[in-house]
Amino acid sequence: MHLTAAEERILAGEEGPGRQKAIQLTVALGDIYGAKRLIQITSAQVSGASFKTIGDAGIRFLEDFSKTARVSVRASVNPLGLDLRRWKVMGVERDFHSKQERIVEAYDRLGAEPLYSCTPYLAGNRPRKGQHIAWAESSATVFANSFLGAKTNREGGPSALAAAIIGKTAEYGLHLEENRKPGVQIAFESIPDGMVPLAGYLVGKIAGKRIPYLKGLKLTSDEHKAFGAAMAATGAVSMYVFSEPGKGTKTDTKEIEECLRISTSELEKCADDLRGGDSWDLVAIGCPHCSAVELRSMARFLKGRKPSKQSDVWFCTSRKVYARCPREVAVLSEYGKVLCDTCMVVAPVEKMYKTTASDSAKAMVYLPTLGKQKASFRPTKTLLEAISR
Ligand code: F3S
Repeated sequence: MHLTAAEERILAGEEGPGRQKAIQLTVALGDIYGAKRLIQITSAQVSGASFKTIGDAGIRFLEDFSKTARVSVRASVNPLGLDLRRWKVMGVERDFHSKQERIVEAYDRLGAEPLYSCTPYLAGNRPRKGQHIAWAESSATVFANSFLGAKTNREGGPSALAAAIIGKTAEYGLHLEENRKPGVQIAFESIPDGMVPLAGYLVGKIAGKRIPYLKGLKLTSDEHKAFGAAMAATGAVSMYVFSEPGKGTKTDTKEIEECLRISTSELEKCADDLRGGDSWDLVAIGCPHCSAVELRSMARFLKGRKPSKQSDVWFCTSRKVYARCPREVAVLSEYGKVLCDTCMVVAPVEKMYKTTASDSAKAMVYLPTLGKQKASFRPTKTLLEAISR
């Protein structure tokens, strides 16, 4: 890989051991993937922030890095294992909290932005079309690449942090235009209400490593958020290309090797497969974190109804969105806990619950594994009906 004189100086350690370690990691990755150079990024999004997912080894890594390194571009952080203000109400243990605090302090020393959200694009860190970024959270990378038109690979936590420290990433993968072309076309017969996450779930499975082209896909931005999160959870690729019905496309479709169609009955079968049981300890909404529009629409639905109190309820969102919606938060709080900084997957749910229902198809992948839950998928409206009467 060609490095500039300034980059060579960082590699030689002239700007300190923190920046040296960061560029070593970035260059090593670039070498593996055949990158020719490093490119400037406008932001980073760092994952690996919950004590549950990174453990003691992760704390040591972050504390060590934070002694000698600082981020040099905007770098927001993924959800933690708890709500920093309401962890006791959540039922998180004191020991977990003190470990989590050490992670927060390390990110603070590194100069990272404490968004603690998987939807940084709804909380101020929203890249523009064409910008190169280094984001780690899989649901956010797919949203950035596909809906916002920014360019990022699906980074790991350490590589996103390293990129944040030097302000650069290696130019390979989805940073290069030639690698952003779709390899498979997928059409839907129809996507019934509440089934958009399942559509993403199936597309991820079918597309595998190929970028899917979804012709005639008309979704709201929140639906793109749920669709992409599920697609990235079941598939290996962090990008899809879409065109809305009746609109032409500038997509280069020359490399498409296969055209597939997902029938409505396949979506219904998927819903059946992920249906799980009918009684739940926890109903969890907000994977990825809820937008203000979603909080508003749920509050509107629930206003005037009464809590059924059959299970605990979590609405997960970012603290920025929470702060923007005090009235909606007040309504939703009658039905459950509106939590910030965390989510149903990276919080220690396994210590509190056994069965969880969610409207997120991404959560159906991770609740049974990371969360050790018996998981049930239901559309948002069904869950809102279940938690109210
Ligand atoms: Fe976000 Fe947690 Fe889901 S990080 S995408 S809410 S698994």
